[in-house]
Amino acid sequence: ADLRARNTFGVAASARRLVELVDIAALPDALAALGDGARPLPIGGGSNLLFAGDAGDALSIVDTRREVLSDDGERVVVRAAAGADWHGFVLWTLAQDLGGFENLALIPGTVGAAPIQNIGAYGVEVGECVVAVEAFDQDLRRLVRLDADACRFGYRDSVFKQQPDRWIVTAVEFSLHRFAQPVVDYAGLRDTLAARGIDTPRPIDVAEAVIDIRRSKLPDPAVVGNAGSFFKNPVVPASQAAALVAAHAGIPVFAAGDGLRKLSAAWLIDQCGWKGKRDGDAGVAEGHALVLVNHGGASGAELLALARRIAGSVHLRFGIALEPEPRIVGATW
Ligand code: EPU
Repeated sequence: ADLRARNTFGVAASARRLVELVDIAALPDALAALGDGARPLPIGGGSNLLFAGDAGDALSIVDTRREVLSDDGERVVVRAAAGADWHGFVLWTLAQDLGGFENLALIPGTVGAAPIQNIGAYGVEVGECVVAVEAFDQDLRRLVRLDADACRFGYRDSVFKQQPDRWIVTAVEFSLHRFAQPVVDYAGLRDTLAARGIDTPRPIDVAEAVIDIRRSKLPDPAVVGNAGSFFKNPVVPASQAAALVAAHAGIPVFAAGDGLRKLSAAWLIDQCGWKGKRDGDAGVAEGHALVLVNHGGASGAELLALARRIAGSVHLRFGIALEPEPRIVGATW
């Protein structure tokens, strides 16, 4: 099966077999039909995947059902199947007057992919609103339900990300609020709202501001192939951050929990002169140094080679080892 249209980098790749699943309940049988020990690669929106080679078997869950599990007038628990489009789901929550995901508007991908890398933007991470994740455990060969603690959410991290060959996420249960105060800690978001004269923003106001900010900064995968941020923002000990601040004027440093600091990967890459650069059709976005782009004919291997050169130059200059954010298929970092 051709996977070019199933990855937002738009690189050529294929899968030996591709199973499309309309009904989650059919998953155990579908896996059994693939044969003993088959562990297909789950593909959602393909917006966090880099194919540096072909996939073996692949699985796409296209079940998009959604149901309200409980509603006490304030807190609403919603279950959504893995195949639902994330942004479409966010728009639905907003249309129901439910707050929680307004900061996560316009993130490409599916509901099922959201907990895997614990998608986050503008001060909110999806894990904060997850009640449980339903998944097929390929070690135990059965469907399980993991509560939020068992998901071990961290910055762009979860048990699903750590054990990629074990889990197939089938559905997610979220807890949303009718009267929550939106989170507007992120300076760019606060400024955008202030410029619009909004001082007590409703969730929909925040979502509209986030959509505009994302459109202004991030390339649209429908126009130029990309997978959003290609590297995670490095988290380092406070002492290392202090040494970097002393050596490099203007380096941005953010709080990241006890004794830890988060650095801006985009800034480090930008300082090394990569923004807007290209090598053949593999390049770095003009508008954001953290986004790798496919100008048309780049292969996954070429994008990976560029990513390695970028990480190498950041390591040489700052002593920081960047880690990729997307799942890389067919090669190891
Ligand atoms: N910056 C530069 N050069 C650039 C772009 C940014 O120096 O070309 C510096 C600026 O100082 C800026 C800082 O980097 O203040 C941070 O940039 P930005 O606010 O765009 O956020 P980010 O750290 O690059 C992260 C997430 C994004 C998320 C935004 C907003 C990661 C890996 N990325 O990006 O998530 O949308 O914050 O919260 O954590 C994604 O994961 O794919 C993604 C797009």
